[in-house]
Amino acid sequence: MATRGLTIEELHEKRDLIVDAAERLWKAGFDAIEVHAAHGYFLNSFLSPIWNHRDDEYGPQTAESRTLIMKEIYDLIRERCGNDIVIGTRINGQEWSPLQPGAITPEMAVEHAKALESYGYQYISVSGYGYGPLPFRYCPDYFPYPDPEPHMEPYMKDYEDLGILMPSIKAVKEAVNVPVIGVGRMDEVKGERVLRNGYADIIAYGRYLWADPEFPNKVRDGRLDEIRRCTRCASCEDPVTSPRICRVNPSLGRDKELELKPVDKPKKVMVIGGGPAGMQTALDAAAKGHDVTLYESKGELGGRMKLASMIKGNKVEDIIPMLDYLTVQIERSNVKVKLKTEVTPSLVKKEKPDVVAIANSSPYFIPTDLPGVDRKNVFTIPGMSKLAAVPMKMFGPEKLASMSEKFFPVGKRIVVLGAGIEGTQCATFLAHRGKSVVLLSENEDVGGQIPVRYKARIEPWFKDHNVEVIRSAECTSIGKKSVTIKTPEDEREIKCDSVMIMLPERRDGSLYDSLKDLVPEIYEVGSTLGEPHSLLKHAVLDGRVAAVEMD
Ligand SMILES: Cc1cc2nc3c(=O)[nH]c(=O)nc-3n(C[C@H](O)[C@H](O)[C@H](O)COP(=O)(O)O)c2cc1C
Ligand code: SF4
Repeated sequence: MATRGLTIEELHEKRDLIVDAAERLWKAGFDAIEVHAAHGYFLNSFLSPIWNHRDDEYGPQTAESRTLIMKEIYDLIRERCGNDIVIGTRINGQEWSPLQPGAITPEMAVEHAKALESYGYQYISVSGYGYGPLPFRYCPDYFPYPDPEPHMEPYMKDYEDLGILMPSIKAVKEAVNVPVIGVGRMDEVKGERVLRNGYADIIAYGRYLWADPEFPNKVRDGRLDEIRRCTRCASCEDPVTSPRICRVNPSLGRDKELELKPVDKPKKVMVIGGGPAGMQTALDAAAKGHDVTLYESKGELGGRMKLASMIKGNKVEDIIPMLDYLTVQIERSNVKVKLKTEVTPSLVKKEKPDVVAIANSSPYFIPTDLPGVDRKNVFTIPGMSKLAAVPMKMFGPEKLASMSEKFFPVGKRIVVLGAGIEGTQCATFLAHRGKSVVLLSENEDVGGQIPVRYKARIEPWFKDHNVEVIRSAECTSIGKKSVTIKTPEDEREIKCDSVMIMLPERRDGSLYDSLKDLVPEIYEVGSTLGEPHSLLKHAVLDGRVAAVEMD
């Protein structure tokens, strides 16, 4: 899209709109106003030479000219609102822009901060921004998925330490006397380190507060194992979900609608399936005062979360803290847990619950009529879960994932059937282990429900990592050392050592059918509904919604 610079009149008009907004906030009783000049917002288009190509007094030539509009805004707000209101600002301490020159460096941010302090701004909140193919924008952590690009490699040390924004936060802190706020992928341990070392005066948390608004209180009270931690899944940034959702906090933005109100008459609730959907349903139903029993056919709770963690890894997103959180919550709740207990119609008849919530997972689809599907070189998700069960118990997902980097005996060339989230993440996992992969998509999509911040990065990465994607491909048979596929263009044979069937879950419904006439109230929750309810975010949200309805 062609852009043009604002005329001076337009510029003043926009400046005055910001001042008007500040005045409204002051009149509404706010104690402080933050003039937002960070990220990709309007005022940053003056500070950042990526955007600022003006040739007048607001141009990119000096820190003073880039911040001139900020000076005017400060003066006008002070004039209108007086001296009692705090006026602070948020700026980019650093920008990353692989395609466009002119990104703000920490040195430039220091100059901006000094100028802003001299105008009167009373605090400086330092954030950052990634443009172009970098997926992180203001969340400085999605870029190492599946691997960081070479130009981002130098930032990995900071990434793994206090975050890639920290050098610029520290630099600004050293340069000014007003309070400096730092942000970016912090937890309580990192935040404490930053404060103790004097790298910033205040820590801002974004996603940690979305995931758990009680986070600061829990830290203060030492209830660290009760924190529902952000898993860095990027679901909250997914434009496909509206309203915005949080994978781990079902009530984000819907507090009133999904409030767990205590019930007058507690019901006897049977929750079937001890994965995240069942755990969330049980917890929420119990929180309302119901008498809840959670049934799990296997020997432990958590469903497939450990397997998912092993496949995904924990470098960028990390789901095990959510499993730990749910486990601790269940232990501390009134939920009764019955492990190794299969729920059958006769058990339901015997227990006579008022409510049943079916939260077990659906079976992954296996095309049983596909010639060769029973061959030894064909692996399925249930088959692999079974194979991994004992080692998973012994070593846990992280160790097992790292062991699989050295030993993963499925041959060198793998064909993966299904390019939804399951197949795509499996292909990434295999490619990370040096396998050469052909990923067959039944349609045009690759990645399925993977949040867009991650999804957009996968195919370019595949190109460099020996993963060939074939779209609109139907596998017609599996041989000992090959598969045959049909595409709109041709029918051909692909040589391979193994085949992995990674097709999504499909609703089974047989348990529901066998129980629906035995109880007055019945729910299906999470992946028991099949696609698209198969993700952790659905488990958590569906569980909450079902519990809210149990009155
Ligand atoms: C979905 C989403 C929307 C955001 N929108 C804004 C915004 O409108 N203004 C802003 O200053 N920061 C915004 N942020 C950035 C946060 O303020 C914060 O700087 C960022 O998430 C990094 O902090 P965290 O790692 O603690 O989440 C947003 C973050 C997310 C995840
Ligand atoms: S949606 Fe995911 S990334 Fe966003 S706050 Fe929730 S857990 Fe964190």
